[in-house]
This record gives sequence, C-alpha cells and structure tokens, in this order.
Amino acid sequence: MTLRIGFIGVGGIAQHHMLQLKEIPEAQIVLVYDVNREAAEQTAAGLGARAAGSPDEVLDKSRVDAVYVCVPPFAREELEVTAARRGIPFFVEKPLGVDLELVRRKAEVIRESGVLHAVGYVLRYYDTVQMAKDYLQNKPYHLVQASRLGGSHPSKWWKQLDLSGGNLVDAATHQVDLLRYVGGEFKEVFASFGQTAIHQLDPDATIYDSGSLSFTMQSGAVGSLTESCMSTIHPGNEVRVYGSDFFLELSGNGRTLLIKDAGGEQTWTSEKNAFLEQARAFLQAVSSGSRELILCDYEDGLKTLEFTLAANRSGLERRVVELT
Ligand SMILES: NC(=O)c1ccc[n+]([C@@H]2O[C@H](COP(=O)([O-])OP(=O)(O)OC[C@H]3O[C@@H](n4cnc5c(N)ncnc54)[C@H](O)[C@@H]3O)[C@@H](O)[C@H]2O)c1
Repeated sequence: MTLRIGFIGVGGIAQHHMLQLKEIPEAQIVLVYDVNREAAEQTAAGLGARAAGSPDEVLDKSRVDAVYVCVPPFAREELEVTAARRGIPFFVEKPLGVDLELVRRKAEVIRESGVLHAVGYVLRYYDTVQMAKDYLQNKPYHLVQASRLGGSHPSKWWKQLDLSGGNLVDAATHQVDLLRYVGGEFKEVFASFGQTAIHQLDPDATIYDSGSLSFTMQSGAVGSLTESCMSTIHPGNEVRVYGSDFFLELSGNGRTLLIKDAGGEQTWTSEKNAFLEQARAFLQAVSSGSRELILCDYEDGLKTLEFTLAANRSGLERRVVELT
C-alpha cells in the first residue's frame, strides 16, 4: 500500500525526514511546500514530487495520506488544526510552538478531532531510552542533573527569542522531554539566563546563550539543567538520575545508557536510527490506524513546552514558576 506524503517546510530537518522515508518502500513524497519557492522546487525535483503553491494545497485529503509539518515553530500558525479538521494524519516537529495559548487551543481541536498524529521527540525512539524508562518504573530517585551544551542552529530565526524560544525551548527541549519521559512530571522551576557570548555569533540575536535551571519534580525529587548554545569547544548532553541505590545516565542524546547499581555497572549504546524508527512508527500507524507505536502525541509535547516556557518566564520575572 502506497502512502502519499506531503511536506510543509523543506529546511534542514525536513531533508533529514525525507532521507528516512527513502528507506520505507510504501512512502512516496508527492507534494512539498515552502515559503522559499526555489527550495521547494529543487526538493520536489529531487524526489519526483510536485512543489505546491500553498500549504492549503498540501493539506488536501484527495492528494495526501499524511503530512509532515516541518516549518519553524513560529510559522506553524493553524497548520496542524487544518490537518486535524480535514482528517489528515500529521507529524509535527518539536517544539510545538512559542505561543503557549495558541498551542493549547490547537491541542484542544486536535484532541476533539481524534486525528492520528505524532510529535518529533525523536529520542524517545531509542531502545536505550525505553530501557531507562523501564528501569525507572517505580524506582524512587531524589536528584536529577541534566545538560545540553553545544552550538547554535544556523538559521537566523533560531537566534530570535520570540521566534524560537531560544536554545532551551528549541534544543534542550530534548533533554527536558527525556527527563519527563523516563522520570515523570515537573512541579516548579527557577531559571537564570545569560547573554554574554551570543552576539559574537549574531549581533542581532535576542536569544540567551546559556541557562541554568533549578527545578522540583512532582515526586519531590530536585534537579538542575544547564544549557549553552555557545559551547562548541566542549559539547555534550546528559540526563543523570540519582537514587539511593542506583545511578542512571542517558548521554549522546539518549543513545548511550549507563546504569550503576548493586548488580554492577553496565553501558549500552543503541544501534538504532531513532529518526528511522520514528518514521516507521508514524507510517505504520497511518496505514494501520493503530497509535500504539507512536511515542509522543500533541498533549505530551505540550507538557514539555509548558516547562521550557515556564523556565523562560521564570528567567524574565526572576521568580519560581509553578507548572499547573
Ligand atoms: N527533532 C530534531 O532533532 C530536530 C532537529 C532540527 C530541527 N528540528 C525542528 O524542526 C523545525 C524546523 O527546523 P529546521 O532545522 O528545519 O529549520 P530550517 O531553518 O533549516 O528550515 C525551516 C524551513 O521552513 C521554511 N519556512 C520558514 N517560514 C515558513 C513559513 N512561514 N511557511 C513555510 N515555510 C517556512 C524555511 O524556508 C525553511 O525551508 C524546528 O521546530 C526545529 O526545532 C528538530
């Protein structure tokens, strides 16, 4: 059975998703749209697809069986809502947006529509992340340390706080989401952000270059997260969970799992391509109608966004922000 796929946005991440779809024989990309018409036409030509004149043309059930929404968060407008209302299964990239009220409104429509969909928190698709989640089931922990240190995204929009939300909302969101996924929900957050290095990269940047978050989990555990998009000299990312009788660390964006406990110390590195696993799960769900394989839906992605935007608010208002 062939699945006709449409793309809205053909930038960096869209190209990466398209590479995965090449590995899935049923997937056929038929329509692509981008505000950059030339990029859309070039991409379409390379795929044997057609460049659409508008996003509306892609969101047409007679033309596509599913759509990938890969434009930046500020540019999503009502795309997912339109897909939902028209009954078109969609995959949307993380983070879900930068305007919390808009994302909450969209979540409601998507929930009511019952449309099949998935959100691109791709690290959940590593088997090592599943192992960590299983290990932590009913295992109390008291402390968490997380970090996301590295470089910045090449696009101009990414360095504007109102368009991307900054490194925390757009990139460290993966570590925040990992923590929620394996360790449960957040309760409150206090954040400080710095902006001393980013202008070396882009004099017009309004994002922070570094952040330091202190938070509590609903379980009562406490934790911290540090992030920087100006640390190319020493990149890395970890989610570390400390229990009184174990230590667990997910590093390499979830790919490597380390567990120390009474049984000794063991490390596993995933052989999986999480992006391919994610694409397979979404397309299998589209063809079967079963959502079992989809590991993140809109409501779930919204919770991760609520935390990162709460941290941004905390930094701005210099106060602890409670998650509702
Ligand atoms: N899951 C991951 O690991 C991962 C990795 C990278 C990016 N992303 C996410 O993917 C999204 C896009 O990021 P990217 O790296 O592809 O960005 P990008 O800047 O490389 O590409 C964005 C594309 O969207 C297009 N675009 C911009 N505004 C548009 C609009 N109003 N309508 C239609 N097209 C528009 C641009 O022309 C460009 O082709 C972001 O939300 C980002 O966080 C996820």
